Amino acid sequence: MVSSEPPDDLLSMRDIAPELPALLERAARLKAERQWGTRRPVLRGKNVGMIFEKPSTRTRVSFEVAVNDLGGHAIYLSSRDLQLGRGETIADTARVLSRYCDALVYRAFRHTDEVELARWATIPVINALDDLEHPCQTVADLLTMRERWRGRFVGHRVAWVGDGNNVLHSLLLGAAAVGLDVTAATPAKYEPNPEITRAALELAAASGAKLAFTSDPKEAAHGADALYTDVWVSMGEEAEQAAREAAFQGFQVNSELLGLAAQDAFVLHDLPAHRGQEITDEVLDGSRSAAWDQAENRLHAQKAILEYLVPTARHLAR
Ligand code: CP
Ligand code: NVA
Repeated sequence: MVSSEPPDDLLSMRDIAPELPALLERAARLKAERQWGTRRPVLRGKNVGMIFEKPSTRTRVSFEVAVNDLGGHAIYLSSRDLQLGRGETIADTARVLSRYCDALVYRAFRHTDEVELARWATIPVINALDDLEHPCQTVADLLTMRERWRGRFVGHRVAWVGDGNNVLHSLLLGAAAVGLDVTAATPAKYEPNPEITRAALELAAASGAKLAFTSDPKEAAHGADALYTDVWVSMGEEAEQAAREAAFQGFQVNSELLGLAAQDAFVLHDLPAHRGQEITDEVLDGSRSAAWDQAENRLHAQKAILEYLVPTARHLAR
């Protein structure tokens, strides 16, 4: 059971770093309960507004199903259809939605907008991806690794191969918090954000996790227990496509790279994948792909996150 007082919001992996082991334990429990057909309606009578400025398959549907499974109601709000899309301020939107809803899930282009929504909202705000972080993804990623490593992070190493982006940022922070080693291979000029890297190194100093950074995918993959990749061109970066495709040559997770990893290593991808770019069909569809379990685990992770952040749900789940 998650113990300490929860943060007001989940904007960064840093917000839940101390509670990650308990949250993962809870997510695993909720996964088992769903398989047994047990449901506890801890969100009964609660409404969760979900503002999306960008497309989504996994995050949107896993949150909707999670809220539904927990007995609540999710309201999908495309920013195009809100007055937000016509210039109503984030502050005013936050104040109004706080009068109707019990939590807000927000997929934003800019992290600063995420912070602004949370500043004015009087209900929990959950980051559903922005340009800096994707914390809910990391909870599902860690759940997936934990399952395959029978609960043990310490002594395992995940190799990141690709962009120093939002997904890597949250992974670095989350892995560092739970004592999981990470080697991140990114092309020059696509390294992770220095401030996030500093924060992750601080968490790693406390947990004993080793974080390493390189521009050589083979060096990262060598002996790794898991390989993780993501798209070369994230949502909102479409104008950089040609430059990125050139810079990321050699950063593909394929059979050759997987051959350098540990014999029982598996492959992670947050999805959607650009098959033939950052990952081959053979690897993504192969027996060592954990991507489909990882996608499923979004659902169980979202439930644990909602339970933790929505005060009444937290109380009922005790
Ligand atoms: N991994 C992930 O966040 O996927 P969606 O963009 O489909 O939500
Ligand atoms: N880095 C990707 C993740 C998609 C889930 C993006 O931001 O588009």
